[in-house]
Amino acid sequence: MKRYRICLLPGDGIGPEVIASARNVLESLPLEWDFVECGIGYDEYQRSGSPLPDSTIEQIRNADATLFGAVTTPPNIPNYFSPVVQMRQTLELYANLRPCRSIPHTSSRPNIDMIIVRENTEGLYSGIERLEDDGNKAITERIITRKSSERIIRKAFELARSTNRKTIHVVHKANVLRQTCGLFRSVAFEIAKDYPDIILQEMLVDTCAMELVRAPEQFEVIVTTNLFGDILSDEACMFVGGLGVASSGNIGTDAAVFEPVHGSAPTLVGTGNANPIATFLAAAMMLDHIHELEHANRLRSSIEDCIANNQVTIDLGGSLTTVQMTLQVIQRLN
Ligand code: NAI
Ligand code: MG
Repeated sequence: MKRYRICLLPGDGIGPEVIASARNVLESLPLEWDFVECGIGYDEYQRSGSPLPDSTIEQIRNADATLFGAVTTPPNIPNYFSPVVQMRQTLELYANLRPCRSIPHTSSRPNIDMIIVRENTEGLYSGIERLEDDGNKAITERIITRKSSERIIRKAFELARSTNRKTIHVVHKANVLRQTCGLFRSVAFEIAKDYPDIILQEMLVDTCAMELVRAPEQFEVIVTTNLFGDILSDEACMFVGGLGVASSGNIGTDAAVFEPVHGSAPTLVGTGNANPIATFLAAAMMLDHIHELEHANRLRSSIEDCIANNQVTIDLGGSLTTVQMTLQVIQRLN
């Protein structure tokens, strides 16, 4: 049996609690694992002087996949940099994937099963900013390249194909941003020719924001640029249960990092009230990524069964602690 090498990045706050739970869940599956735990975040900065040591980057590169908890952004410390942004850039994790799937027995709206594919390296988050006119004019450059557009759009088509989804929406604002969105849009229609089995539709980003609220079930795959994807994916996750259950993946050519969408929730540390589901669903995405689809689906069903039977933490209306909820999931997997 293949052994998977998994890098675990617990991080700060509730990160170590939810990652420990996810590790227990993964260890209960009939798969072989080599786990390597590495430092990231503010605690790591206080220990070693860097929130993202080179050794951590190296281990993420060497792993089949990485599962990341969360980090705390400390109050103003000069020279401190966000390890999350740094990790995405250093490892060129160009695709940010955000599944949004209805979860029965929650406040989820029904029949939603979409995935938002966001370009993660350029666009308006290019990092190229300056002040002119004695500080009275602020400029941010929006960079869209053919290379980055091609790889993210191809990723969206491949995902659609591998998950039997039939339609992709390319979301843009090419009527106004004629150059940048214009390029992204035309690359999408060029690449669509290689995928005759999948329908490419286009939608303006403001229309998409409205349509997501009106009828979210119409979307299967959305592919879009960095800022638009950031906003639309946060919007969409609210239809399917919010932060306690939202997970995401950051995929590059030689590394992939999966994480809950929530942060380090400092006030929950040690209370047992951290909901581990978002991290479990990130672990399920990781199982998809390493092609253990059957185990990924079993994990998702076990979580749904816990929810259906109210075996959940207090944020979802249950009364279990993080550890008790973890045991409930493991019981169902066995
Ligand atoms: P947060 O996501 O940590 O918390 C927002 C709210 O959701 C809080 O009320 C929290 O108690 C609740 N919450 C979060 N995760 C939960 C879980 N698993 N179970 C139950 N309730 C949960 O965001 P906040 O408070 O804005 O930021 C806290 C710290 O996290 C900050 O230092 C921030 O910079 C950092 N952060 C890190 C992220 C990351 O590592 N990717 C993402 C977002 C924030
Ligand atoms: Mg966001």
